[in-house]
Amino acid sequence: MSIQSLTVNQFRNLDYANINFAPSLNLIVGDNGSGKSSLLESVFFLGHGKSFRTNKIENLIQSEKDHFVVSAKDDQNHQLGVQRGKQGEIQIRINGDSKFRLSDLAKHVAVQVITPETFRLFFGGPKERRKFVDLGLFHVEHSFVGVWREFKKVLLQRNACLRQRIVGQQLDYYNQLFCQQSEIIAKVRSDYIERLANELNKWLAIIMPDLADNIALQYQRGWSKSRQLHELLAEHNEREIKYGYSLFGAHKFDVQFSFNRQPVEQVLSRGQQKLFLMALTIAQANLIFESQQIAPIILIDDIGAELDQHSRAVLAKAIGKLTCQLFITAIEKNALEAMLPEQQNYKMFHVKHGVVTEITQGEKHE
Ligand SMILES: Nc1ncnc2c1ncn2[C@@H]1O[C@H](COP(=O)(O)OP(=O)(O)OP(=O)(O)O)[C@@H](O)[C@H]1O
Ligand SMILES: [Mg+2]
Repeated sequence: MSIQSLTVNQFRNLDYANINFAPSLNLIVGDNGSGKSSLLESVFFLGHGKSFRTNKIENLIQSEKDHFVVSAKDDQNHQLGVQRGKQGEIQIRINGDSKFRLSDLAKHVAVQVITPETFRLFFGGPKERRKFVDLGLFHVEHSFVGVWREFKKVLLQRNACLRQRIVGQQLDYYNQLFCQQSEIIAKVRSDYIERLANELNKWLAIIMPDLADNIALQYQRGWSKSRQLHELLAEHNEREIKYGYSLFGAHKFDVQFSFNRQPVEQVLSRGQQKLFLMALTIAQANLIFESQQIAPIILIDDIGAELDQHSRAVLAKAIGKLTCQLFITAIEKNALEAMLPEQQNYKMFHVKHGVVTEITQGEKHE
């Protein structure tokens, strides 16, 4: 989907904003502290029911207010909205009906985000990479949601057994389920990663043509590929009890990226790493689009950070080929100049002290 109009109320420093967006490219400029990231965060919240910057809802609610509202009308005239209060109250509305859960909202809106912080985290450890891959799986492989939900329940129960040192039949029971489900998930993920790798090659050829041939993906399923999971659980039983959680299994998967067999984060420059992550995000967005026929949304916060003029231009070329709605922020308007597509079907906005205004045609080129 693409967001046709967005209304944001009492969200961080955005007191009230009602914005009509372009279906493809939206460029947002403003000084430090003006509200650019907050605007992206509100869109992200619609798709995820959480922020990419904080786990605390009260940080998102405007100071001295007790709730915020974010709502949007999509290109098919669906009305989606979420309201969150200080005490954790939540209300989801889809087309005026409020019987929905956050996961229903997530089905409608596939939002991916790249910020300087998520970029750092992506190459800093498996957590962000897991989130990234599972978001794609959630939207592309519809069977995944149910299997993953079941697995998470079993994981919680198994961890509780380990923590409480409950062994014997009960642990055996969970172990069996845990191993079966881990195998199923590992297979679904591995198939998906293969598709992602193929798609990535296409986009790397556009975005990083000089490096594309030497980049590879390695999927790690969460336990050694030469071992059976149930054997590992038996071998490491004491250790798992000591830690009180499951050390192996489908939740421990990872994807590593290498350039000439070296980890990308150790050999590519920061700008190259960022371009690589953009290519990966675009590849995943395209898979989501192909499987759902619903255009996903990509948020890129602070495009100027790490990317030079040429890099932004190649990125713009790739973006031009994508069926996707994009929201890109920068502090300076000239950081976005290289992104401007030939056609004029993009919109540009200026944010100042939490007030968002559209920049008109003439002003865009000033
Ligand atoms: N809960 C809140 N209530 C009111 N204002 C808030 C709240 N949380 C953050 N702010 C303020 O909102 C403003 C906008 O922050 P935001 O991170 O969106 O700015 P930005 O435009 O992305 O800036 P930068 O270019 O530095 O990244 C900041 O001044 C921040 O202090
Ligand atoms: Mg910001």
